[in-house]
This record gives sequence, C-alpha cells and structure tokens, in this order.
Amino acid sequence: MNTWVQVWTGRQFAARVNEAMDIYVQAMQYPSHTGAQRAVTARRHTSHEGFACRAAVDDDDRLLGFGYGYTTLPGQWWHDLVRKAMPATMAAEWLSDSFELSELHVLPSYQGHGIGRRLLADLAGGIEHQAMLLSTPDADTRAFRLYRHVGFLDLARHYLFPGDARPFAVLGARLPLAALADHSGDGR
Ligand SMILES: CC(C)(COP(=O)(O)OP(=O)(O)OC[C@H]1O[C@@H](n2cnc3c(N)ncnc32)[C@H](O)[C@@H]1OP(=O)(O)O)[C@@H](O)C(=O)NCCC(=O)NCCS
Repeated sequence: MNTWVQVWTGRQFAARVNEAMDIYVQAMQYPSHTGAQRAVTARRHTSHEGFACRAAVDDDDRLLGFGYGYTTLPGQWWHDLVRKAMPATMAAEWLSDSFELSELHVLPSYQGHGIGRRLLADLAGGIEHQAMLLSTPDADTRAFRLYRHVGFLDLARHYLFPGDARPFAVLGARLPLAALADHSGDGR
C-alpha cells in the first residue's frame, strides 16, 4: 500500500475535517468528544490568511495523517501568547512573515515511518514565509524529535498556555528547511 501526500485547499480539508479530527484525538490521546469541538476551530482556521494543508492518504483514499497552518498574525490567540513568551527582540525577528504549523498528526499505527516528516517537508516547501513556528508538548516525544531533526530551534521552553496544564515548547525554523532537503530522498 502506498502513501500519497496531497495538497488540500481549505475547502477540501473542511469536507474531511471529521476524519482529520479522529486522527487528532487518537494521535494526541484526547477524549473522543474533543474532536467535535476541535473541528469547529479547524474549520474556522481554513479561512485564515495563508492557510496551507497537506494530507497523507493511502491507495484507498483513507486519511492517514494531515498537517495544516496559516500566516501567524497579531490578534490571533496563539500569536499574541507566544509573543509575550519570548523576548521582544526575538519576537520581532520571528513573528513577522511566519507560518504557524497549527496541527500535524498521523494515525498511531502509521507513526514512525516517515509520514509526518513528508507532510512537514511538503508543507514547508510550499509556503512563502521566512519561517515556520509551532508549539509542542515540552517532552521527549516523537514530534519533538522530528522537529529537532529538521532544524527547529527553541524560542520558548516550558511555556504554559491557558487551559493546559502541560508545559509546551515554542519552536521555530527558518525556511527552507535545510535538513529536510538533505534527507528527502532517504526513504524514511
Ligand atoms: C508527530 C507526528 C506527526 C510525526 O509523524 P510520524 O509519521 O510519526 O513521524 P516520522 O516517522 O516522519 O518522524 C518521526 C521519527 O523519525 C525520526 N526522524 C525524522 N527525521 C529523521 C532523520 N533525518 N534522521 C533520523 N531520524 C529521523 C524522529 O526522530 C522520529 O523517530 P523516533 O520516534 O524513532 O525517534 C506523529 O508521530 C504524531 O501524530 N504524534 C502524535 C501527535 C503529535 O504529537 N503531534 C504533534 C503535535 S505538535
């Protein structure tokens, strides 16, 4: 069975947002009801400036993973919080002309086989911004290892977002992602 990475418009993503949120709750080990709540937010994100999405599907068009984000701008919840989480000079350097990777998730049984890296590489290669930013639980996770492998740097560590008890790391990488270009053909 092959895995295909597809470019999805906001409309395409919105049409399959419930499948995507099923992956989100499984990947993040969240209670299943949170998927419906998150779907409302994710649908809203499709109208954000700079929205870009990639989907990983198999030969039967089953969704195996997805990643999406948009231009990070003042007035957005995440943008305004992470701006305060870092020194002003760093914020000036990283928070303009940047893309926030909002979600990147792969079905648990398909993780660790390079699908996440392919989604990330394709997204990063298809956007015009000078940098990609994200936040991820501040722990030794597969996600954190993946971001480190492709060159993401610490912008803030052990940051507590309102409403979430877990500390997060805010990471950033200049585009293009040089590490991904080096490894894109290694078959992982
Ligand atoms: C994070 C996630 C999307 C990554 O997708 P994935 O398909 O599992 O990831 P990949 O297989 O492409 O890459 C991750 C693995 O490859 C490794 N890797 C990536 N590039 C590599 C490279 N160039 N050289 C060596 N190893 C590399 C990573 O370290 C990791 O391996 P490990 O877990 O054995 O240490 C997926 O694991 C997931 O959905 N996790 C749960 C949800 C989550 O945390 N999402 C992100 C929230 S911010």
